[in-house]
Amino acid sequence: MPVHKVARTYVESLVLPCANSSLLGFALLMGFLAINFSLAEETTLEQRPWLDKSASPDERVSSLLSQMTLEEKVGQLNQSNGISGQATGNTKNLVADSALYQLISKGQIGSILNEVDRAIVNELQRVAVQESRLGIPLIFGRDVIHGFRTIFPIPLGQAATWNPELVTAACRTAAREARSKGIQWTFAPMVDISRDPRWGRIAESFGEDPYLASALSIASVEGYQGDDLSNSDSLAACVKHFAGYGAAEGGRDYNTTMISPSAMRNVYLPPFKAAVDAGVATLMCGFHDVNGIPMSVNKYWLNDVLRGEWDFRGFVVSDWDSIFETIEHGVSKDEQTAALAAARAGVNMEMNSPCYRNHLAELVSNGQLSESTLDDLVKPILRIKFRLGLFDQPYSEPNSERLLLTKNNLELAQKVARQSIILLKNEDGTLPIKKSQIKELAVIGPLADSKRDQLGTWIPDGKEADSQTPLAAIRATAKLHGTEVLFVPGLEDDFDRSTERFAEAVTVAERADLVILIVGERANISGEARSRAILDLPGAQNELISAISEVGKPLVLIVQAGRPLTIGKQVEQVNALLYSLHAGTMAGPALADLLWGVESPSGKTPVTFPKSVGQVPLYYNHVNSGRPPRPYEYEKDKTVDDSINVELGYNSNYIDVGPYPQFPFGFGLSYTAFSYGEVELSAAKLRDGETLAVRAPVTNSGEVAADEIVQLYIRDLVGSLTRPVLELKGFRRVRLAPGETSIVEFALPVSDLAFYNNDEERLIEPGEFEIFVGGSSLAPKVGKIEIVK
Ligand code: BGC
Repeated sequence: MPVHKVARTYVESLVLPCANSSLLGFALLMGFLAINFSLAEETTLEQRPWLDKSASPDERVSSLLSQMTLEEKVGQLNQSNGISGQATGNTKNLVADSALYQLISKGQIGSILNEVDRAIVNELQRVAVQESRLGIPLIFGRDVIHGFRTIFPIPLGQAATWNPELVTAACRTAAREARSKGIQWTFAPMVDISRDPRWGRIAESFGEDPYLASALSIASVEGYQGDDLSNSDSLAACVKHFAGYGAAEGGRDYNTTMISPSAMRNVYLPPFKAAVDAGVATLMCGFHDVNGIPMSVNKYWLNDVLRGEWDFRGFVVSDWDSIFETIEHGVSKDEQTAALAAARAGVNMEMNSPCYRNHLAELVSNGQLSESTLDDLVKPILRIKFRLGLFDQPYSEPNSERLLLTKNNLELAQKVARQSIILLKNEDGTLPIKKSQIKELAVIGPLADSKRDQLGTWIPDGKEADSQTPLAAIRATAKLHGTEVLFVPGLEDDFDRSTERFAEAVTVAERADLVILIVGERANISGEARSRAILDLPGAQNELISAISEVGKPLVLIVQAGRPLTIGKQVEQVNALLYSLHAGTMAGPALADLLWGVESPSGKTPVTFPKSVGQVPLYYNHVNSGRPPRPYEYEKDKTVDDSINVELGYNSNYIDVGPYPQFPFGFGLSYTAFSYGEVELSAAKLRDGETLAVRAPVTNSGEVAADEIVQLYIRDLVGSLTRPVLELKGFRRVRLAPGETSIVEFALPVSDLAFYNNDEERLIEPGEFEIFVGGSSLAPKVGKIEIVK
């Protein structure tokens, strides 16, 4: 083999902090190159044949693996937390003094999470690459959940856009920003189906529907990973939390789940399967147990299904300490049994806890775990490192500050936010604001100017200073129209229970021609470990809404929250309602655009909004009962009447609030009206292998251009299992000018009508299916087809 020189680059921490001015940047780049050169280490491909870029990742993995000791193999399976924030000082000393230093230099760590100080990232990487025996680079992971520095709407808000292309663009932007800081791997997307708004992590999810979540799962993976993981703006994605974590009993985070095999296959797994088919690099297993077996040691789902049946070739990382926690679950006696069970189940990398680090080598030495099983755990990790190009370019380059929070990034964030906000009520065309009629505008509410809260949960790298709030954006827009803005928060914050400042708010409302009242949930009461048993607006916000509504001025309510809240009574007290699922950095300008009609609202609920927490779980695609209640009628069912009615008969109901939601799935209004013409179905009878074409004429019958989300649903009338009363099978966002008609076409392959039974058999059963097309899950029936053998 010819001898090549393999250059090692190393970014000296000194050059990093001041790379802003272009002249200085140029000088520093020269310095950077000089340092690279001086630190260049010569390695021959004969010594390290896995550095040969012309070999395939699999060949490179085999040649590297053949050189690794048992300890080095185990080393790759350990992920440790970073050291930023633990101390300050010179980067080199910080790293050299850290406990991690010894581990990395001995090749005992494969990955670091939560390290975003680029100088530290590069110094840790230098230790791995230059000081460990084989020079295997570390992979740096981070929770880049809905943006890195430019914060996009929370994933539930992204789901409300029903716009996969936009979700891809948002993830691409997040990847570009994060990779510029040395991050190579994000722990996203989270695709846990959630039917329970009590669960705080519903904020991080794409909602309740497997079809919508699958489409957005693919969109996210494509966005983060791009065409090639080794691109300088790609991140390896990590689909999580495999699987069924969102079914936590009672909506209590980390709680046990009971999921039938058919529900697992039909409801919880599809978005994971979609991510795997889209080439997701990694997957995280959840903290929870499914039917008694914690996912971190669940051989059936992780090994047999994920690897065996789905042929997943990436790697599985545990959740934080989740292997260790199987001891607390009571299925592992100690760290060693936990390590053995997780390794046998196929968890490649252990996040944070030390079960693998402390016990795997011994388990192999004493024969309890075969070395080939260990090899099978190591290989996918190395393969992803090769695919990310880490062996070829392990370091993060300087001068990347300009990639963060750029004009384009902010414009995109504003667009995503705009499409994510849902108009839930608009009595008598209260919105958009009629410029000429509004001289004085009152803005009231504790979340009108809260920079932190609009960013939502999981923004480790977001900065509240970057947020453009609704108040700031309303002021800026109002100024353009010569409208005066009067602002009074009314409450100190969303938790405030004091009504002391209401009088001031009422006075301002009395003066104004229109009142915008901005309430909601602060950012940190949704997300991980933030389950709520009460879904009302916290503090005295409901009382504030009552006080302001009594003034009698046109009242627009804006709710900023991480989940659906129970706001039925409040809806009745206001004229218009915009629901913003924590919409990120640009939430304010996006809301202003919608308030003044720069754009018509187009978001649709990605999850059912209950009237009362006692109705939960409440979701549109439930199976039918033998005693269903009377059919849902939105106009009749939208008000909350909690008086007890025992005359409802013996059917599946609540005698107080009834069985129907506040807002159904897929629902959202617009400033225009859409009408649907006669829908054509291409066939009345179909066989497996064939595809039904559905053609729906949709007309913008109102006066402004707007987007509609056209939705296709089916109902399988008779099955060998009880079947959902409705299932989403297609959706399309279309933009229509006033008066314009578009024929929206869906291709529905018969294979999409398949479902799994409790023996986990995939069935396409002959019989009749109803077809529904419309702008929400209230879509009318448009026809019927029959599947024949
Ligand atoms: C969460 C994961 C997250 C991990 C690393 C855990 O607590 O469940 O979703 O990726 O922490 O921060």
